Amino acid sequence: MCGIIGIASNKPVSVNIINSLKKLEYRGYDSAGLATLTDNNINEKKCSGRVEELEKILFKTPSNGNIGIGHVRWATHGVPNSLNAHPHSSDQVSVVHNGIIENSDEIKKELEAKGIKFKSQTDTEVVTLLITEELKNNKPLDSVFKTLKKLKGSFALGIIFKNFANIIIGARRGSPLAVGYAKEENYIGSDSYALKSMTNKISYLDDGELCILTKDEVNFYDTKLKKVNKKIFTLSEDEASTDKGEYKHFMLKEIVEQPDTVKNCIDEYIDSIKKNINILNFPIEPQNINKIVLIGCGTAYNSCLTAKYWFEELTSIDVEIDIASEFRYRKLKFNSNNLYIFVSQSGETADTAAALDICKKNNVKTCSIVNVIESTIARNSDWVLPIYAGIEIGVASTKAFLGQLTVLYIMCLKLAFLRKDINEDTYIKNIRNLKKLPDAIKKCLKSENNIQLMAKEFISAKGSMFLGRGSSYPIALEGALKLKELSYLHAEGYPAGEMKHGPLALIEEGLPVIVIAPKDKYFEKTISNMQEVIARGGKILFITDNKKESLNENIRFGFRVPHIDNLLTPILLTLPLQMLAYHVALLKNCDVDKPRNLAKSVTVE
Ligand code: AGP
Repeated sequence: MCGIIGIASNKPVSVNIINSLKKLEYRGYDSAGLATLTDNNINEKKCSGRVEELEKILFKTPSNGNIGIGHVRWATHGVPNSLNAHPHSSDQVSVVHNGIIENSDEIKKELEAKGIKFKSQTDTEVVTLLITEELKNNKPLDSVFKTLKKLKGSFALGIIFKNFANIIIGARRGSPLAVGYAKEENYIGSDSYALKSMTNKISYLDDGELCILTKDEVNFYDTKLKKVNKKIFTLSEDEASTDKGEYKHFMLKEIVEQPDTVKNCIDEYIDSIKKNINILNFPIEPQNINKIVLIGCGTAYNSCLTAKYWFEELTSIDVEIDIASEFRYRKLKFNSNNLYIFVSQSGETADTAAALDICKKNNVKTCSIVNVIESTIARNSDWVLPIYAGIEIGVASTKAFLGQLTVLYIMCLKLAFLRKDINEDTYIKNIRNLKKLPDAIKKCLKSENNIQLMAKEFISAKGSMFLGRGSSYPIALEGALKLKELSYLHAEGYPAGEMKHGPLALIEEGLPVIVIAPKDKYFEKTISNMQEVIARGGKILFITDNKKESLNENIRFGFRVPHIDNLLTPILLTLPLQMLAYHVALLKNCDVDKPRNLAKSVTVE
């Protein structure tokens, strides 16, 4: 998604704007730009492509000015070119925007009917020209406020004004916007990550709020333009996570970090002395919870689907799962004894945030499992369970997925014990097993070169299938998602038992089929599904934790993960699939950390 930055300072800002835009690159984009106020003139520079291109333009024609805004654009309206890149400026204002103005066509027609000319194909330009119109009779804040009332859709805005050269106005509806504070310098940004190299003091706008900042002060206003005070958070120091170190890609670093991040997570939730899980403040009495609804998108949805098997296995609680973009439009029946759990790495995914809002409006209890604890979804939930994975930069989620699974499993164990669905022995045994997980993950990562050989099978493949049963099915979905988003190869995740109901028609000579078959109650059935594939020429890549199973001659490659217990196996089965997707992407020269068309945080629906 787009990323915005604004800086009001006592010194020139363009270098810091560029540095912040580089921090925002992980969100995914296809053009970049900035505008500064120099001698009361709006000095706009923008281009398609990477921030480096913008930097080259600035090098040739420097932008001075102590007030400025910047933007990396992920195209929603209008092709990714310099004309559609942000900022969008008139002779009076310059605007950067993250989100979608849903009634932009209607507004554009009204303005064109007044003879106002547009330069771009974007929705954002209507904001620029509406504010310009309002400025004829209003001060900046009122001009912006009146403009926002006309807009439908979502936005985080940064706005500078030709004739008010000391202010930046920010506004938020649906897309996140943070404010940062420093000495003789203040900032707005899409997230704290864009600001953390300049400050660790951060506030967050809530929907409907505006802010005006100068280099010396920041004022916030609510939906009625009344001044409000905002809490100032101090960010944790985890700068280390924002550097690749000796790794070629953030994704590889984040795969390799998993033994540590999972251990961090376990240590946060399990009292190592009492060997007890220290989750206490459930928003509903555990005995009174009659249903858990798990909601997420993409990889976060796959962690919900995996957790469903754990809740069914260990508790007597009814479990429902849903994709957030589906949930938010369903005709829902809410119940005060349902616990709605929102899983989101970024905590900013628009569909997940919207689904949470619907639950809040229906006065039901909500929990969020997030990696960014100061995120919108976390701040809007009754209860937050962080995954403690550290900043995840790679667009393809890896360590956050394992963090989500770890927290969901821990929550499930605690609930099962509190509700007496499992006895103390089982509870203690499962906690003991959980503590073995980091070392088992480490063992999986040691077999990377086997995976590199496997990856070669995909070079000329036109697609692939990932098959699994039971809790291996969501892992098949996750493996397919990783391969799709990293190598741009078509890949299907499917319940192995479904092959005969159609997908078997896809099997032809040499098609790579990843069969995920741990030694569980489904093993024999999955093996017979595998035989059906072999009989039709499929090339089997076999992932198991079964030491005894000799890999039959028709299996092209096998990968064994360590076995702790069947409940934890899905977590371990994920590792080879993450590494496989990574190495296939390398072989296909894809952009591993910033796959095409994708964004790290999908803040538009
Ligand atoms: C994961 O590899 C993808 N990048 C994507 O599916 C992601 O999981 C999804 O957009 C949800 O993001 P969130 O966890 O930040 O809400």
